[in-house]
Amino acid sequence: MSSWAELEQACKECTACGLCQGRTNVVFGVGKKDADVLFIGEGPGEQEDLQGEPFVGPAGKLLDDMLSIIDLDRSKVYIANIVKCRPPHNRDPEEEEQEACIGYLRKQVALIQPKIIVCLGRIAAKKILYPEYRITKEHGSWVCRNGIWMTAIYHPSALLRDLSKRPETFEDLLGIRDKIQYVKANVD
Ligand code: URA
Ligand code: SF4
Repeated sequence: MSSWAELEQACKECTACGLCQGRTNVVFGVGKKDADVLFIGEGPGEQEDLQGEPFVGPAGKLLDDMLSIIDLDRSKVYIANIVKCRPPHNRDPEEEEQEACIGYLRKQVALIQPKIIVCLGRIAAKKILYPEYRITKEHGSWVCRNGIWMTAIYHPSALLRDLSKRPETFEDLLGIRDKIQYVKANVD
């Protein structure tokens, strides 16, 4: 198993897919390296590419607000993406690009050993949960796989575009808060 430093270095030098060509920075991930909760987005946007950190643009500001609703912040969780380099014009990452990159995320999961994984949006949910995942129907529901509780919620960018999704997401966030309490009570 790679250490964090080795993994991050390898990722920063990666040329395994075409997304390496347009990047300013590789966006490896941030947060607590042994966090209970791992949030997974789809890929860096413009601000993330420029700053080398996930969720620092407008969607990130909303994610910070969502975390604070359930007494979390960036120092208490880990945040990463399916692909570590920005897709041109923020298009969806292609299946091949996701497949080329997912090994880094798998190693991050192995190092973090989270108790809970929260997929942010459709792309992450389909890759992490299952390919047929329907975010509109299934958001907020839970599966437990290999001892890790997993769910998906709407992507903060979707919540910026469509305010009507926010009440459901508020409920999903409360579900995440409950699950954190549940795993703490059952594991510690
Ligand atoms: N959207 C994502 O999915 N990830 C980021 O890091 C920023 C925006
Ligand atoms: Fe490598 Fe992932 Fe960047 Fe593609 S997106 S070049 S696989 S780090």
